[in-house]
Amino acid sequence: MASSQSLKGQSALVTGADSGIGKGVALALASAGAHVVINHVDAHEIAQQTVEEITATGGIAYAIHADISKEDEVKAMFAEMYQQYGTIDILVNNAGIQKDSKFVDMTLDQWNLVIGINLTGQFLCSREATKEFIRRGVVPERSKAAGKIICMSSVHEVIPWAGHVNYATSKGGISMFMKTIAQELAPHKIRVVGIGPGAIQTPINKGAWDTPEALAKLLTLIPYNRIGEPEDIGKLAAWLVSDEADYITGTTIFMDGGMTLYPGFADNG
Ligand code: BGC
Repeated sequence: MASSQSLKGQSALVTGADSGIGKGVALALASAGAHVVINHVDAHEIAQQTVEEITATGGIAYAIHADISKEDEVKAMFAEMYQQYGTIDILVNNAGIQKDSKFVDMTLDQWNLVIGINLTGQFLCSREATKEFIRRGVVPERSKAAGKIICMSSVHEVIPWAGHVNYATSKGGISMFMKTIAQELAPHKIRVVGIGPGAIQTPINKGAWDTPEALAKLLTLIPYNRIGEPEDIGKLAAWLVSDEADYITGTTIFMDGGMTLYPGFADNG
């Protein structure tokens, strides 16, 4: 786990930080001392609640509205962040959505929406952050790296998922996006790391845990036999962007209670 205040004085942007995993990550980064931008696309009041939770415990946070699939909105968000905090040290590409449909019925809008937010959004935000990391370089009193980027992926970067081809494709794409920019940016002392959450209890998968029957069915996919919490992912993200993880770049860390262990083979095959 990140030692307390391991991110002191660093500025972080977390996309989609008003709920779910993004909120868990924002709270964890703030409690490790980072100044956090809470990016959101939904109602301002919801993002403001996250800001208030952080400031109530002595942390520093600020909400910025932007649709991360739109280039002009991303550029405006980074400009506003630099006015508030001066620079960026940590980017957490978290925002993601599902628009599920059988493949044969999937509309182009469903496809484009998910690819636009989940994959193109990571491209646009990472490119803006990288410009600043390269311009500024390493600030040794803050971190050994010139910048850290987390790409929130999913177990579905490796597990195919019928009925969710847009989502699974976006996550498979994130894996190669993350590895390729990690290779390209390592000489600039920029680390890029993926996190592959399994089933985490958030609004995105409510239908999979909000009744005892649904939860029991879901748990058959999780050898460790519990659903994950946003705090699990928050702690991992805070550690991955700290200097304790300075030698990690270009890989996805799965945090899934064993979902990627082919649980169906436990008593079959
Ligand atoms: C999806 C969830 C799902 C989980 C495990 C996540 O990436 O967003 O809806 O429960 O993967 O399948």
